Amino acid sequence: MAEDLQISSSVSKAEQYKSLIPQIEALISGETELVANLGNISAALKEQFKWLWVGFYLVKGDELVLGPFQGPVACTRIKNGKGVCGTAWRQQQTIIVPDVNEFPGHIACSSASVSEIVLPLFKDGRVVGVLDADSEYAAHFDDTDAHYLAEIVNMIYFNE
Ligand code: SME
Repeated sequence: MAEDLQISSSVSKAEQYKSLIPQIEALISGETELVANLGNISAALKEQFKWLWVGFYLVKGDELVLGPFQGPVACTRIKNGKGVCGTAWRQQQTIIVPDVNEFPGHIACSSASVSEIVLPLFKDGRVVGVLDADSEYAAHFDDTDAHYLAEIVNMIYFNE
């Protein structure tokens, strides 16, 4: 299998996701190792969209613990209900933050981050982690991202 992504960045965001999703599916289908799949999803999203940071936190007890990601170093543990990630976990819903300075309790892993989107990952109706993406541009994420990123996280196979 060719390992290079084949997508133009000059088409609309929705078109980019539509091309990317089958390629991510090809990368992760047939592979049951969670870390490998989360690593490749992070890399594919970073390569295509050039976001500041994109990656995963996984639920361990009452905390989210940093998982595979692409971008600057990040905080390793986030409590349930804390920050955007912990809030998405507690509320069990996607959160789009156009300006992180306006989100009470936002955890600034990087001072360059201005906007953010966080999606919960579900297994058997339970949140088992989150996908987090950060941008250095204001209001960078919208419902298009929420829609297609949900398709991507729904493809993740959780075996543990
Ligand atoms: N900003 C997140 C913390 C994770 S980093 O952005 C990678 C939050 O408020 O939960």
